[in-house]
Amino acid sequence: MGTTAIVGTQWGDEGKGKITDVYAEDADIIARFQGGNNAGHTIVVKDEVYKFHLLPSGIIRPEKTVVIGNGVVIDPEVLLKELGDIEARGFKVNNLLISDRAHVIMSYHKLLDGLQEQSLGEAKKIGTTKRGIGPTYGDKIGRYGIRIHDLIDEKDLSERLDALVPLRQRMIFAYDGESKISKEELLDKYTEYGRKLSKYVTDTSVFLNKAIDEGKNVLFEGAQGAMLDVDFGTYPYTTSSHTVSGGVCIGLGIGPKKVHRVIGVVKAYTTRVGGGPLPTELTDEIGEHLLNKGGEYGTTTGRPRRCGWLDLVVVRHAVRLNSLDAVVITKIDVLNGLKNIKVCRAYELDGKETVNFPSNLKVLARCKPVYDELASWDDFSKEEGLKMAEEGYDALPNEMKVYLKYIEKNLGVPIEMVSLGPGRGETVDLR
Ligand code: GDP
Ligand code: IMO
Ligand code: MG
Repeated sequence: MGTTAIVGTQWGDEGKGKITDVYAEDADIIARFQGGNNAGHTIVVKDEVYKFHLLPSGIIRPEKTVVIGNGVVIDPEVLLKELGDIEARGFKVNNLLISDRAHVIMSYHKLLDGLQEQSLGEAKKIGTTKRGIGPTYGDKIGRYGIRIHDLIDEKDLSERLDALVPLRQRMIFAYDGESKISKEELLDKYTEYGRKLSKYVTDTSVFLNKAIDEGKNVLFEGAQGAMLDVDFGTYPYTTSSHTVSGGVCIGLGIGPKKVHRVIGVVKAYTTRVGGGPLPTELTDEIGEHLLNKGGEYGTTTGRPRRCGWLDLVVVRHAVRLNSLDAVVITKIDVLNGLKNIKVCRAYELDGKETVNFPSNLKVLARCKPVYDELASWDDFSKEEGLKMAEEGYDALPNEMKVYLKYIEKNLGVPIEMVSLGPGRGETVDLR
């Protein structure tokens, strides 16, 4: 297997958690390389449902090592809660490594995330998860950040806070004129977090490079999706990290030659949470069908996700940005029972068809999806889905096979897995 990256190809929530868990069976190590607890990854194993925000999905396989890389932004409070929760469910966590270079989400970052959204106003706000993601990455790039290694040494943290608290206090006052942040409180709280996390902290780049050189199988678990990438997504309605496969190298401290395969997770339709454009959005009863049958409510914030038809302009953008070797189609069962199925193959822009996703949202607003219509298939039960998964590709409804072939042809990359439900077994593995 070598190393494999699993990335989202749309606006997140494609089912990366489930798919990472399936691929994790063959992996020795599972590593997160970007994002923070804006992510919500769901894994269903029999009757157990796990939702992870910061912990890599491999944590439920105790024989594997899981890594939180330098590219991730960590809210220690959330991470400790997640660790406590998973331990309360009977998992002993002795297999976690956290990068000493990862940046820390401080309480003032969360405060600023909310204040910045408020100041943008209802019409222009990004609709962030308010977890402090943007302000933390902003401070990282601006060189005002606090890193995990700073938490381990009280003197280092104290010096860093002396420099940073007055700056962030001024910023907060500029927004609301009242909220106060206290250096002493921050020092006490974050030193305590550092004390609790220190046993996991190491130079994860050294660890990972050695493991890869020794031939270990490593899975890189992406968060969010290509359209939320800070450069290639629908900026400024994006997250603040590099969600595409290039982010693996920067976010884990490995070179590009060590990323052997890249797999894109494609939901059989499109969803997004928060503000920003969604060209194939459906506000009719089909949108309602996708929302309800797909259970499309945010794993992190509980917000209903906006739903629409599959947009291949978007997915092709992701194929190119990520150098995808193959794709996995998820949630195809959610299309069960629809009268017919539309897929956007191109946009019409000023009377001409275009297949490239524009950078300028004003140009995007002039784009109209061009749809192909495909036949649908009969609804099937969970039991029937499990049976199909066991029997393999040939057992799938003929119309579904046509739909899959259509996607494959349009993307120019093979489909190597099809997910028919949230559970581990509800997966047709074509590898
Ligand atoms: P992620 O952020 O990409 O990991 O995706 P989320 O976990 O936020 O959202 C995906 C949701 O769909 C979760 O509730 C999964 O349990 C569920 N899911 C994953 N794959 C399938 C599938 O093939 N069919 C159905 N019906 N649900 C799925
Ligand atoms: P997973 O990993 C879907 C969206 C937010 C908002 C924008 C910016 O579960 O796929 P942020 O808090 O990152 O500054 O918010 O990005 N967003 C996600 N949408 N899935 C996610 O993660 C997301 N993480 C962030 O809704 O529109
Ligand atoms: Mg999610």
